[in-house]
Amino acid sequence: MAGEAVKRTFTLQDATVDDLPDMAAIFLRGLSWDPISKVFDEILPFEAQLKVQMQRDVGRVTVGHELGASRTFKAVDESGKIVAWGGLGIPAKLTEEQKQVIKGKPVMTHIPPDWPSNFVRCIVSIDTKMSDCLERNGYDPALHFARQGTMVDTPHQRKGIGRMITRKCNEIADDAGRATFVKARPSSRPLFENEGFRVLEEIPMNYEDFGYEGNPAMFVMKREPRVK
Ligand SMILES: CC(C)(COP(=O)(O)OP(=O)(O)OC[C@H]1O[C@@H](n2cnc3c(N)ncnc32)[C@H](O)[C@@H]1OP(=O)(O)O)[C@@H](O)C(=O)NCCC(=O)NCCS
Repeated sequence: MAGEAVKRTFTLQDATVDDLPDMAAIFLRGLSWDPISKVFDEILPFEAQLKVQMQRDVGRVTVGHELGASRTFKAVDESGKIVAWGGLGIPAKLTEEQKQVIKGKPVMTHIPPDWPSNFVRCIVSIDTKMSDCLERNGYDPALHFARQGTMVDTPHQRKGIGRMITRKCNEIADDAGRATFVKARPSSRPLFENEGFRVLEEIPMNYEDFGYEGNPAMFVMKREPRVK
């Protein structure tokens, strides 16, 4: 019937390296509200930001998948188009080098010299604060699962897709009987709280210290496995 709302169906599949361009675009659109993303927009055109983002994720979907240290899920619509993705770090004993490659760290050591130094200090500070906070709260990559990005494309938010990805990851953690950690932004905190995560620590990002507006917090959250 004309004008009738059509209920869309979305399916979860394993993502591969071929999905990186779509994943990067969804990431950039999804975080466009973040003050630091706005600074990025002033420094780099969208296409160049896409390349940086793909370099950050490529280790996870190549070496991470090969070593069984990560899985990446994509939600696709009826036509196969990606509308969301989520990464899951799987407990694994890795060498320091493997960890750095999976995290995309080599990319961040080759920061272009023309990026403003306060911007570079700001992103390094966020990264360090979050890693320290995870460690302080007992996260051990050899023992625990870790969510690595949950990104739903703007037109498809609040349709239950973030919940679908989260429940899939929770099921895997429950089967393994292991806890899951996540570094959550304020935007995803309600989703994670509803799906069994609790906040261990709130970390102010202190953007003002670097000359940027806004002072959003990040949250380190943990979910204990459910006994089946
Ligand atoms: C945050 C995000 C992952 C949530 O995924 P989503 O598919 O939009 O959320 P869902 O529809 O699965 O929501 C499930 C439940 O979580 C809660 N929730 C999700 N988004 C919420 C919001 N913005 N405010 C309050 N509650 C929210 C609600 O309880 C919701 O259930 P309801 O819609 O029946 O009330 C998604 O909106 C997103 O990618 N946003 C932009 C990028 C981002 O900030 N990602 C988080 C990075 S850590």
